[in-house]
Amino acid sequence: MTETERHDYDVVVIGAGGSGLRAAIAAHESGARTAIVCKSLLGKAHTVMAEGGIAAAMANVWAEDNWQVHFRDTMRGGKMLNNWRMAQLHAQEAPERVWELEEWGALFDRTDEGKISQRDFGGHKYARLAHVGDRTGLEMIRTLQQRAVDLGIDVFMECTVSRLLLDGDRVAGAFAYWRETGSFITFTAPAVILATGGIGKSYTVTSNSWEYTGDGHALALWAGASLINMEFVQFHPTGMVWPPSVKGILITESVRGEGGVLRNSEGKRFMFDYIPEFFKAETADNEAEADAWYADHINNRRPPELLPRDEVARAINSEIKAGRGSPHGGVFLDIATRRTPEDIKRRLPSMYHQFKELGDVDITKEPMEVAPTCHYVMGGVEVDADTQSSVVPGLYAVGEVSGGMHGSNRLGGNSLGDLLVFGKRAGEHAAEYVAHLPSRPAVRESDVDGAAGEALAPFSNPGGENPYTVMHDLQEHMQSLVGIIRRGDELEKALKEIEQLKARAKDVSVRGTGRAYNPGWHTALDLRAMLTVSECIAKAALERTESRGGHTRDDYPTADPQWGTINLVLTEKRGSVQLDRKPLPTMPSELKTLFEEGH
Ligand code: FUM
Repeated sequence: MTETERHDYDVVVIGAGGSGLRAAIAAHESGARTAIVCKSLLGKAHTVMAEGGIAAAMANVWAEDNWQVHFRDTMRGGKMLNNWRMAQLHAQEAPERVWELEEWGALFDRTDEGKISQRDFGGHKYARLAHVGDRTGLEMIRTLQQRAVDLGIDVFMECTVSRLLLDGDRVAGAFAYWRETGSFITFTAPAVILATGGIGKSYTVTSNSWEYTGDGHALALWAGASLINMEFVQFHPTGMVWPPSVKGILITESVRGEGGVLRNSEGKRFMFDYIPEFFKAETADNEAEADAWYADHINNRRPPELLPRDEVARAINSEIKAGRGSPHGGVFLDIATRRTPEDIKRRLPSMYHQFKELGDVDITKEPMEVAPTCHYVMGGVEVDADTQSSVVPGLYAVGEVSGGMHGSNRLGGNSLGDLLVFGKRAGEHAAEYVAHLPSRPAVRESDVDGAAGEALAPFSNPGGENPYTVMHDLQEHMQSLVGIIRRGDELEKALKEIEQLKARAKDVSVRGTGRAYNPGWHTALDLRAMLTVSECIAKAALERTESRGGHTRDDYPTADPQWGTINLVLTEKRGSVQLDRKPLPTMPSELKTLFEEGH
């Protein structure tokens, strides 16, 4: 029998970013005995990388804004592949969640009249991002963390879940290990909420930190849940490119929201050359009109720098490929000639310090060098829009690990609203599910033994390959073959490489004999999830023979209307990943009319 600590809860939330904290608060407030389990420290989450703000139609800056416009912007940004019900709930409920956050102590920037200030971001018709300088995600985490701690919710930090435990087809708990000691810990709980964030570490250049190895995506798939939209990976247009040690670190879209413009090595504001047909009617095609937009959103068309992220990232990529890039392989992002130094330091304090300290660049005087960085995955666990429940009874997913809300491309600022709106819903519904269970599921000892054996396997392969080498090779293949621009032959090659990497990963061995803080062992375990999600991304990317949102095929360069009604759904059957096509849920006619002319 495996030696393991044991803890019993009603709801276990895996992940302590914005969605996990909000879900845990909701579950606790609904009466469920709740725990948060997180791989890293409480609040050390990718949420802080959503720097620019929370998109919510509060109409503080533009009275014309409302949930219908926000809903329409979100669907158009996602190229209509979003789950319409999630996009609707998000647009309707985001304002309430922001005001609630303020009641809980979040200190937002203010308008002259003292309302919560809202700023411009790509793809949003009106300035609607409630913000705290360029540190909004951090303030959100601080507020939620304080509330969770005040409520007395139990937190298990530096504790990594390696398997979900089932009773029949229902969730019964989770098996984990402490990073520090390597000893095991078993949670029994009828409901588990996955809030593990994304998959960015499968790529070489990413804004994600070490935790983001797709754990929740893989745990769900292994437990019998389905994943959707995995082919859609968001490359944020602006990551740092220099020096090499900070390559990929995010430069917030707020720089462009505050008036920053993109230029190539010839000094040309190149985005005017990349306005897609889909957005032509609402995008300015000359500098005068683009600049006038900041004064009057109603009569002018948006600057092309504020097109949705997929469009801007592809344009930057094309300029670099065409040889019009900056010295270190990016393009230039210029705020220095657009705003006063005082404004820049007040509105973008983190960016000012980030460049000064990491790159020795003064952004009040010089342009930044930027290039796309893997930031977010639109794909995730297929969930019910209202409850966030997966097809596995008792298993919920929220935030980046859930799929559907953002379709093929997420608008900046829509992630923080997503975390709050669906975090609350998931927590409440998980608590309700547990309260109405006729019988509690039980964890089988044989399953605990199996999970322990699987976790310890890398210790029984003396002389095997170093797990870091396999991880490095996976990242290189994903970056070069399944990156921002894809091709059928390259995707096929990637899938072959992933098969080989899976075989190599089975044979990795861990240096040192001890389980106490052994990072090689942790990497060996992370690799299993990384390989699973990478296979899902490459498989779905090969299947979708069109370009849409965060999936661009060089060999199928346009959007195909036939694909516009189809989700790709991934499941695991007998150890191998299966792919199916599924029609999108039908949008009701009262919402469809929002896309007709005159709206
Ligand atoms: O650019 C940013 O501030 C990131 C925001 C987001 O991903 O929502």
